Amino acid sequence: MLILIGIIPATVASAVIVRNYKNRAVEIRTSNVKNQCDVISSSILGEEYLTGTGKSDVIDSQLAMLSNIYNGRLLIINSAFRVVKDTFDLDTGRTSVSKEVIRCFETGTGSTQYDDRNSYIELTTPIIDTASSRTIGVLVASISTNEIQQTARYLENQGIFVTSLLTILVLIGGFFIANMLVKPFTEVTRAIEDVTDGYEDEAISVQTYIETEQITDAFNQMLSRVRALDNSRQEFVSNVSHELKTPLTSMKVLADSLNGQEDVPIEIYREFMSDITQEIDRENNIITNLLSMVRMDKKAAVMNITRCEVGEVLEQVMKRLRPIAEKKEIRLIMDPYEVVEADIDVTKLSLAFSNLVENGIKYNVESGWVRVTLKHDNKYFYVNVADSGLGIPEDQIEHIFERFYRGDKSHSTEIEGTGLGLAITKSAIVLHRGIIKVTSKVGEGTTFMVRIPLVHEE
Ligand SMILES: Nc1ncnc2c1ncn2[C@@H]1O[C@H](COP(=O)(O)OP(=O)(O)O)[C@@H](O)[C@H]1O
Ligand SMILES: [Mg+2]
Repeated sequence: MLILIGIIPATVASAVIVRNYKNRAVEIRTSNVKNQCDVISSSILGEEYLTGTGKSDVIDSQLAMLSNIYNGRLLIINSAFRVVKDTFDLDTGRTSVSKEVIRCFETGTGSTQYDDRNSYIELTTPIIDTASSRTIGVLVASISTNEIQQTARYLENQGIFVTSLLTILVLIGGFFIANMLVKPFTEVTRAIEDVTDGYEDEAISVQTYIETEQITDAFNQMLSRVRALDNSRQEFVSNVSHELKTPLTSMKVLADSLNGQEDVPIEIYREFMSDITQEIDRENNIITNLLSMVRMDKKAAVMNITRCEVGEVLEQVMKRLRPIAEKKEIRLIMDPYEVVEADIDVTKLSLAFSNLVENGIKYNVESGWVRVTLKHDNKYFYVNVADSGLGIPEDQIEHIFERFYRGDKSHSTEIEGTGLGLAITKSAIVLHRGIIKVTSKVGEGTTFMVRIPLVHEE
């Protein structure tokens, strides 16, 4: 394509040049010969030469010279249309009645004709008697333009040659340039393939161009994200397995020790059995949490959005948790609120807020409190869950939303949990296009702040 763009103009240009040359050359030749003819015709003064009565060596030699120089034939015709002089000596003495000659006699002016096909110029020049101003004869000159034609053809061939040479050069050059441009990208491709095949664990780098650098940078970013994802997936699987195994191990130990003893008192049986039941509850809890989490996973999540009064949803959550709170003598407070309607998935958000309030109860002090507030503006509603509890050490705050993360091992052994609660909460809020933040001070308490849009956008 590019080659055509270069070659077409070159071909056209050379054709135009050749044509101009030809026209110009014919023009110059015509005017030269015309001048010479004028000179000769004016040197024929009287009718003697034309009637054949007088001879002139001067004129004869002039005619011969002109005929020689221009490789042409010169005829002189008198008023009786008889050829009195022919430089080729073929028609001398014969009658010649050509259209141009008649016209020349009639009008007394010369004419020029160029025959391109047979490549010659024909000129007629009147011979005028100075005394009577009559046309007494006509000088006919036929000049070959063969060599002009030859030169033109030569130029044409040169043009074709140069164009072909250019074409080849452009082809070769284009091939090399294309190769040079594509090479770094081939390297990028190879580097990416290496990573795909698992040969390289490192980041890739092709710094030939800014573009290839940008591509490899973007690729490396993606690569490290994929690796991080892969790591967290592995970690998750091993966490799940571990968490699911722990209660089973405890149950096995309890059952084995009962089986190993003979004549176990009924009280011991009861105690061990109740421990086993607890472990079963724990296992059940983990599985329930895992299932909720899977349901919250972004791709699989089906949002069941309805228009609800948020305050009522919160009241329901608090009502369900009140018995647990009372066991620890913890006050559950719902601050006065205005009626707020929002598009929410009630099941998912109930679970989210339930986890927050439950944490507030679990990680609290004796006869502490958990306070829930609801506010809104024209775009969002805001829910705060504050407690008077243990607080979260600063270095742990960034981890609490991770799956299976449980704070300080010291209290996590006595306080039950799976470490999935906040992960589920955050997923549910993010599915509502909301955000969750936390502030906490060890020994004073923790506040979770949630902001969710009133109108749900897909
Ligand atoms: N209100 C809170 N006060 C103090 N610590 C909290 C609170 N909420 C969460 N945490 C910390 O964050 C960790 C993760 O919480 P969560 O995901 O709900 O798991 P779980 O409650 O099962 O331990 C908890 O183990 C706890 O250390
Ligand atoms: Mg929890």
